Amino acid sequence: MSILKVNLLPRDYSYQVEIVDDFLDNVRDYVRQAVKTDQYAIIADENICKIYGAKIKNQIKKGARKVELISFPAGEKSKNWEKVGELARKMIQLGFDRKCCIIALGGGVTGDLAGLVASVFLRGVALIQIPTSLLAMVDSSIGGKTGVDVLEGKNLMGTFYQPRKVITNISFLDTLPESEFLNGLAEVVKHSVIWDRSHFLNIAGNARQILKRDPIILKKIITKTIQIKAEIVMKDEQEARLRRILNFGHTFGHAIEAQSKYKLLHGQAVAMGMHFACRLAEEFGFSETEKIIRLLKQFKLPVCPDKNYDHGRLLKKMYNDKKSVRGKIYFVLPKKIGEVFFAEVDECNLREHLRSFQETCGI
Ligand code: GLY
Repeated sequence: MSILKVNLLPRDYSYQVEIVDDFLDNVRDYVRQAVKTDQYAIIADENICKIYGAKIKNQIKKGARKVELISFPAGEKSKNWEKVGELARKMIQLGFDRKCCIIALGGGVTGDLAGLVASVFLRGVALIQIPTSLLAMVDSSIGGKTGVDVLEGKNLMGTFYQPRKVITNISFLDTLPESEFLNGLAEVVKHSVIWDRSHFLNIAGNARQILKRDPIILKKIITKTIQIKAEIVMKDEQEARLRRILNFGHTFGHAIEAQSKYKLLHGQAVAMGMHFACRLAEEFGFSETEKIIRLLKQFKLPVCPDKNYDHGRLLKKMYNDKKSVRGKIYFVLPKKIGEVFFAEVDECNLREHLRSFQETCGI
């Protein structure tokens, strides 16, 4: 087991990310060490419930008065306010009180949704994140972002709400569908491009083993990626500035993801968004686009949309994004692999870039 201590300043609030490989046998101990209570609500989507729900519930039940599994339909479509209300009301009906702990067991959607429920249920109850997807392990379970989507865009409502602990069980990845695994690799690549060139080179040099899910390589890559995320979040918990670099690829990515009506997986949309940002960065002298594209393609991630999206609607979505400030869009662009900068791009240039990106993509 490895433990990463994440100290989130300035609120002097810290918690640990525990990377474990014997989780399913010792889940009760891991959970109880994180939060001691006699009531746990495990929130998971229906797929995860089917695979792990009963086993995890039965284990935690030993010694706890109340342990309930609360499920919801899998997929981004469940990330909405109605679902937050439904889950919270279900918890009231089941008799949970302020001393309870919510366990978010699942991928990014579950973490965001259950995290938001934890932050508002009875004005906030303890939360443990147990990510089951690669994307959730390396990104969404760390740093306390919760959120839901609205018609106008993705993650536009939410809170910063830190968990008491993140328990990362790498062996969940053994049963993760290929498309979900690749989805998470987009975020792994993103962290390396924004922060650590040697991590990028390491990923590129081990791409084949990563795709084969070699457990030793995977553990190293995941641990390093978590460390990068933690380092950034520790410096800027509430995204005053630095944390915004984690949005590399997300301005275009969120817009295209929403426009596909969430048929695109988040990682696929972010891969396209990173490509879009790299091409934009070329106008500022960036010259390493091909290295990034090669790696994304090796990870079977799409780097171009497959059809010509409506530019007007894409632009509107980009302006609605949380990352736009006073009507201006600041893109996170690579200076070189391992270092990024913020660039304000006006609407006229953005329209032009959308046109030339379309040409580059041959659509
Ligand atoms: N996934 C972006 C962030 O946590 O800030």
